Amino acid sequence: MVLGVYASKELSPPAARVDKAARGALRNALVDLPGKAGGTLLLRGLPGVAAERVLLVGLGERKEFAEGPYREAVRGAAAALRELGAKDAALYLVDLKVGSRPVAWNVRHAVLGLREAFYRFDQLKTQKKPNAPVLEQVVLPLSKSQKLEETLSEAIATAEGMALARTLGNLPANICTPAYLADEAAKIAKQFKLGIEVLEKRDMEKLGMGAMLSVARASHQPPKLIVLRYSGAAKGKKPLALVGKGVTFDTGGISLKPAGEMDEMKYDMSGAAAVLGTIRALAAMKAPVNVVGVIPATENMPGGAASKPGDVVTTLSGQTVEILNTDAEGRLILCDALTYAARFEPAAVIDIATLTGACVIALGHVATGLFANDERLAGEIREAADDAWDRVWQMPLWEDYQEQLRSNFADMANIGGRPGGSITAACFLARFTRKLRWAHLDIAGTAWRSGREKGSTGRPVPLLVRFALNHSAKK
Ligand code: BES
Ligand code: MN
Ligand code: ZN
Repeated sequence: MVLGVYASKELSPPAARVDKAARGALRNALVDLPGKAGGTLLLRGLPGVAAERVLLVGLGERKEFAEGPYREAVRGAAAALRELGAKDAALYLVDLKVGSRPVAWNVRHAVLGLREAFYRFDQLKTQKKPNAPVLEQVVLPLSKSQKLEETLSEAIATAEGMALARTLGNLPANICTPAYLADEAAKIAKQFKLGIEVLEKRDMEKLGMGAMLSVARASHQPPKLIVLRYSGAAKGKKPLALVGKGVTFDTGGISLKPAGEMDEMKYDMSGAAAVLGTIRALAAMKAPVNVVGVIPATENMPGGAASKPGDVVTTLSGQTVEILNTDAEGRLILCDALTYAARFEPAAVIDIATLTGACVIALGHVATGLFANDERLAGEIREAADDAWDRVWQMPLWEDYQEQLRSNFADMANIGGRPGGSITAACFLARFTRKLRWAHLDIAGTAWRSGREKGSTGRPVPLLVRFALNHSAKK
């Protein structure tokens, strides 16, 4: 039984009821509960209480109780349940009033918080922890009966989409190659009866994807352009296009990256993973939307065949690009994928990419960078991000920045210097999306965590799922 307690020893209504049954034993134990939201204290054998174990979880100050502390409390409780190896639990938190959110919001965030905490990536360890904890059953008690089946199935599907994105991100580049991503997409297509097409190198050559091919040149892993379609709405309804950067390893190419933390460039396909996770989630919940995922997948390697600084390539759009830095490869594969996505006549296009280190400098690891050429689309993304608590911060995409991309030898250069690096990267993409309603999410700071807790976050799957669902609800 998980019960919430505010700071200054104020019991939430369910905790107060249990305390009454236990004749004050719960309140007496409060001295040992850490004050901050998410802190926990385990009590056993409370008199008058049938539950074997009662887990108290801090909610923070009552006046300050809102989305943040609620999510902290769920996460704190989930971590404690995992440590305890609990098999079933009743989470008496979902009935609390969280800001002005409806109960459905609480339920969604409880499910996601629990699923995230119990996610494991141990498939490459030979000595697996014995009896790794699994929470078999969770009850989310509500005081008023409500119809929340759809909310639940949406939340579970979202959690599974996120877990898929995390696993693809965490897999090392010697396993998760472009071909592996294509196989993974094919598996999803088979399981949910989706449309799939994988373009090979020769197809890209025929089409004239010179920018995409310039990145793939030195790799021994053949590049793939994966197109995965989910049609949950009427045939005539224009799809939402999701374009995900799928660089399965980014060495920087001839503009080689320094050795420190280079392993983290296995996460440079996190945009692709988010697209697959999102489509899987929407298909699993049978969302009434049409979505097409477009994933340019390749490695970025140095080598004898590699593109060199100064090389000029012709993109699928016909525009030429001077590659001044081979490490600015994400925009090169995305520009061709975005041009390709236009053939699906999408209602809107969102690309998702671990695009720039500069975005991490600007926004840190909290907010994803949002850029858009359409204010309404930007507003809808901000709204979905807020609802999913998978937050974004909008950055400017003004023409003034475009001049940084000028080139003496081609239509544009692929880099714009250090100032505003995430903006000039977005400006580069904007030159390929003029005829589209388009937004770009730079997830360089939010797709994975570094250090001891290194691992993929699964972001921005929650945001994309919410956006697609809101989008489908609108006419
Ligand atoms: N994948 C990187 C961006 C990145 C770097 C994400 C570090 C997260 C952490 C991208 O391909 C890249 O290398 N970008 C360059 C662009 C520069 C050469 C203009 C960068 O950010 O340094
Ligand atoms: Mn790079
Ligand atoms: Zn990259």
